[in-house]
Amino acid sequence: MEIKTTKKNPGSYDADIVVYLVRQPDEKQSFKPVENIVDEVLKSSYLYGDFKGKADEILSFYPVNQKDAEGYKAKRVLVVGLGKDDLGRELFRLCGGNIAKYLTKVKVENALVVVPNDLEFSTKELSECLVEGIVLGMYKFNKYKTKEESEPEVALEKLVLQGDNTNALSKGGRLGKIAADAACVARDMANEPGNHWTPSHFASYSLTISKKYGFKRKVLGIKDLERLKMGGLLGVNKGTSEPPKMILLEYRTGKKVPTLMIVGKGLTFDSGGISLKPSAGMEDMKYDMCGGAAVMATMEAVGQLSPNNLDIVAIVPATDNMPGPGALKPGDIVRHYNGKTVEIISTDAEGRLILADALSYGIKRYKPDAVIDLATLTGAVIIGLGHHKAGLMSNNDKLADNLIKAGESSGEPLWRLPLGKEYSKQLESKVADLKNLGGKGGGTITAGAFLQEFVGDTNWAHLDIAGTAWNFTEKSYIPKGPSGTGVRTLIELIKNWK
Ligand code: BES
Ligand code: ZN
Ligand code: ZN
Repeated sequence: MEIKTTKKNPGSYDADIVVYLVRQPDEKQSFKPVENIVDEVLKSSYLYGDFKGKADEILSFYPVNQKDAEGYKAKRVLVVGLGKDDLGRELFRLCGGNIAKYLTKVKVENALVVVPNDLEFSTKELSECLVEGIVLGMYKFNKYKTKEESEPEVALEKLVLQGDNTNALSKGGRLGKIAADAACVARDMANEPGNHWTPSHFASYSLTISKKYGFKRKVLGIKDLERLKMGGLLGVNKGTSEPPKMILLEYRTGKKVPTLMIVGKGLTFDSGGISLKPSAGMEDMKYDMCGGAAVMATMEAVGQLSPNNLDIVAIVPATDNMPGPGALKPGDIVRHYNGKTVEIISTDAEGRLILADALSYGIKRYKPDAVIDLATLTGAVIIGLGHHKAGLMSNNDKLADNLIKAGESSGEPLWRLPLGKEYSKQLESKVADLKNLGGKGGGTITAGAFLQEFVGDTNWAHLDIAGTAWNFTEKSYIPKGPSGTGVRTLIELIKNWK
């Protein structure tokens, strides 16, 4: 889909549909005029109570037979309500999602959106969020549905933003599109079934984007992991026939700027291993790679945005967790890259094992100024926060605050949980340096505390996205299934990094 801008009168544009956004008028007041043919319809719809301009409301009609329609070229008109509450980024994304739903329903190829300039909201940000909502809301994953010849696919090919300030429209539209496209890349990866998205697929995707954007790339295969003594990733991999990979990508500005390292759990299927999960719902464990997908997809956006304020290193440790011959067993002890030994209590607490190697290796190799990891790490975070917010743990208040702000402005809210000695103590083992389970209570925090053992003094934040990576609070622009969460938060954080 391409995004264009125009200053031309909306009616003169030969669009399949023209979209108007209107504020809900106060009681006994009428809508602010937008365009003759629309104003006429709005008058009646308001009178009959069919459409009041509330956020979430839409009204559609065909201008063809209207008395003011002469010279109005578009086939359809859609009016979308903005409500009367404070305007914010999320409102425009939700509005974009509602537009997307309608565009999908009527199957149009080109649409024009009239971006109002009389709202107290920057045009650039408005078009950014609107486009983000539209692109995210139009998302479909039909790859494995056999197509019916009789129903040809129609996709939106052109989205035109209409307004006076075309510069702001195109700048905002571009940002929104880059962020939403990246989140859709993460959704695509997550939607792939476990037999079609293996660690090797992560590796080949990294090859594609490293070529496309000139990233430095390294993929550690089993021999490298053995040489580097990454006992965590190797241990988890022992029960599966799929070879493990650790994927490393580097975006360099060539300037003296800080380095941000982002790490994502790329567990391409989590059966639990010998500590086998219950079979009901186990199919969802193909999504256990959503942290890795978010990190890889963020690099797609980084390649397009080429930020000049930050070098970025991305790491995805990837493997299946299966109970095959040779699988790790409860009671086994593994030795991580940094030399620490861990007693395995549950082979289902595997995410922390593969992340421990990735974090300690990445920190030693790249000496980053800050590290953020994303992982579908614990079921406990769903008990605590439901599917509405992701858990955040950090050893640095500034990094945590900046992440909370970035999450807020992306519509991916985070909730900070504590870390501390008491929690770390829950991980003491009688036979090794640590055990991989914190026992009763605070399961999300003890998982975070485990990771903390592998980051030393480096500024670090951990996002537990187990509740939001899929089944995230459904919204007009977040469908059922994988949400692509984390991608837009990371992009926002990178854009505003100081
Ligand atoms: N991938 C799971 C966490 C998870 C559970 C994500 C449910 C999304 C939905 C993780 O590897 C895991 O199995 N964690 C265990 C940890 C436990 C053994 C301490 C869990 O949360 O049950
Ligand atoms: Zn698990
Ligand atoms: Zn897992």
